[in-house]
Amino acid sequence: MKKEIKVALGNRSYPILIENGLLPKCGAFVRKITAAPKIALLSTPAIYKAWGRELAKSLQRQGIRLELILISDGEKNKNERVLFRILKTLALRGFQKDGCLIALGGGVIGDLGGLAASLYMRGIGFIQCPTTLLAQVDASIGGKTAVDFAGIKNLVGTYHQPQCVLVDPQTLRTLDERQFKTGLAEVIKYGVIQDEALFGEFEDHPELIQKRDPQILLRLISKSCGIKARIVSEDEREGGKRAWLNYGHTLGHALEAYFHYGVLTHGEAVAYGMWFAAMLSHQLCLCPENVLQRQRSVLKRMGLLQKLPYFNPGKIYQKMFLDKKARKGRIQFILTRKIGLVTIQKNVPQPIILSALTQLRVEASKRR
Ligand code: GLY
Repeated sequence: MKKEIKVALGNRSYPILIENGLLPKCGAFVRKITAAPKIALLSTPAIYKAWGRELAKSLQRQGIRLELILISDGEKNKNERVLFRILKTLALRGFQKDGCLIALGGGVIGDLGGLAASLYMRGIGFIQCPTTLLAQVDASIGGKTAVDFAGIKNLVGTYHQPQCVLVDPQTLRTLDERQFKTGLAEVIKYGVIQDEALFGEFEDHPELIQKRDPQILLRLISKSCGIKARIVSEDEREGGKRAWLNYGHTLGHALEAYFHYGVLTHGEAVAYGMWFAAMLSHQLCLCPENVLQRQRSVLKRMGLLQKLPYFNPGKIYQKMFLDKKARKGRIQFILTRKIGLVTIQKNVPQPIILSALTQLRVEASKRR
């Protein structure tokens, strides 16, 4: 079974193809998408070995000339030095304005590849082949590209939409358990913000999801990509509803920064952020208690909410102010009205935020 979803952005519209076994046979499709005489394939040695060789063969069967650029994975490489190394390689290998870059990997590869493609000769073609669940359902769609700079995550970046996104859920077979769970946190997020039936999959089929059943994964990924595509189509530059995608991220980003990005994965931090946002929503009487309970129980069932180290609520509060998404000195929260419906709130009183942070610290420590 395969799915095709459109990100509708006028003459920059593009398809997301989702199919088990897609990468080894996507050459003909790529040839239709781009007439580039030469394509740069950006990846890591391990991902190239696992998935890139087959992809490369399929492209070469279409007569596409490939230039391989391998870099190391990990957030610490998402920086200006690696970015300029990629740009220099493109220049040395003679890429012109009609060139194209394929990013095969997780979010770091996609963010670096997208930024390099948007900067080189003021923009060349770009294709996303995400291989982690997090990148498949989130980072590869919507055109955000970035590197971390001056100690701040994603500080320098652009919007550069890909020409297509190729999602092969089979790549998740080799994804480590922690990274898989981190992606699940974002899928749960899509359920909370837009789709109660998607959220219900986690209540009804937790074992199948944890076993990575191919059919259920295809469904979860397709629904998530569909939601993201719709939101991006309506609000590419995050002037309004794209901010819904930040559900759980206000606290999530603050926790990641507070623990220096090494202790919690992105999804683990966002999971605590979602639980916290649900607590706030309940305290502000925006939703009944069972909306909070359902979120906590699904997150816990998926192995999230397992290890939140001790934190200082006042310092976390300060970090939330420093988030680049804090608008005009006000912390912006996405809060839950019911599963499938969220609202943007900019005026949550400080004492309520601090008391919910203290409650989170107490509740989270009970679960360790
Ligand atoms: N990851 C959130 C966004 O793409 O807007």
